[in-house]
Amino acid sequence: MSPFHVTRTLPENATDAALRADVLEGLTRMPKTLPPKWFYDARGSELFERITELPEYYPTRAEREILVDRAAEIASASGARTLVELGSGSSDKTRHLLDAMPGLHTYVPVDVSESALRQAGEALVAERPDLHVHALIADFTARLELPATPGPRLVAFLGGTIGNLVPVERAAFLAAVRALLAPGDALLLGTDLVKDEGVLVAAYDDAAGVTAEFNKNVLRVVDRELGADFDPDAFQHVALWDAEREWIEMRLRARGAQTVKIHALDLAVDFADGEELRTEVSAKFRMDGVRAELAAVGLELTRWWTDREGRFALSLSLAG
Ligand code: SAH
Ligand code: AVI
Repeated sequence: MSPFHVTRTLPENATDAALRADVLEGLTRMPKTLPPKWFYDARGSELFERITELPEYYPTRAEREILVDRAAEIASASGARTLVELGSGSSDKTRHLLDAMPGLHTYVPVDVSESALRQAGEALVAERPDLHVHALIADFTARLELPATPGPRLVAFLGGTIGNLVPVERAAFLAAVRALLAPGDALLLGTDLVKDEGVLVAAYDDAAGVTAEFNKNVLRVVDRELGADFDPDAFQHVALWDAEREWIEMRLRARGAQTVKIHALDLAVDFADGEELRTEVSAKFRMDGVRAELAAVGLELTRWWTDREGRFALSLSLAG
């Protein structure tokens, strides 16, 4: 195997078929929704990287602080020879973990964003010629087929991306992750924590408008991939805190009544003035809830670390 290997687990046209199905389902129901995985074409992945540098967007800095402080502990507790990372993006924070794992045999970054995977993988193999990097272009909510690599395995899911799944999706996802783990393997999970509403809303509605552009990027993806005529300027970015469900919701609110044509689906979608399309939830967690969701799939939370301000948590669960 060459040190950098990319596997597409789905046929080329599967992404197209999945986007069509999601757009058809999501835009013909009430309220309208689109799944957040469609934000991440090359532009969306770049916009997300810009978000991570915004003064208001604390999760990346908070999680990095924990990784800097705890990478050695995580490495020795897991003893991993293979690190699988779901939704790896730029793999930027992961480097703290990789640096603490000199005996690591293979890193398996898994992402829907081919551009992010290629950029991150090429940079990594240049820095760590000893490490095998086997990137998977795959949807982590679908059944994953991991390459045969030496154990133990550490599966990392960082950034709080688990919060972008709604509870029923989360339960199915965690059960599928559990099924990937053999005895002695571990799950490292990043979860953003419940906190003051003002801090949360600002993180998803930054002053520079980068999150607004990221949110509207899903419309550009649908325009390009499905020949639609969404005008991103005809929608307003909305971020609000749902105190009952303890999640942030991002929406796009129609500025004026409009009809959008989606050529590839032969579909015309009407938006009333002010109608909102839900594009993302970003759930925030408490330790007891995380412990319970892990326990429900047979994983025992063994370590829980937060940053010094208690904004974000990393947990480690060992598979028995
Ligand atoms: N883990 C990185 C990136 C988080 S952004 C960090 O902590 O900074 C979320 C990443 O998950 C993006 O790279 C996006 O392309 C990827 N992603 C989102 N939904 C996905 C899905 N269903 N399957 C695979 N990757 C997905
Ligand atoms: C990737 N995920 C954890 C981000 C989040 O915070 O929910 C995506 C994001 N959405 C808006 N800003 C960032």
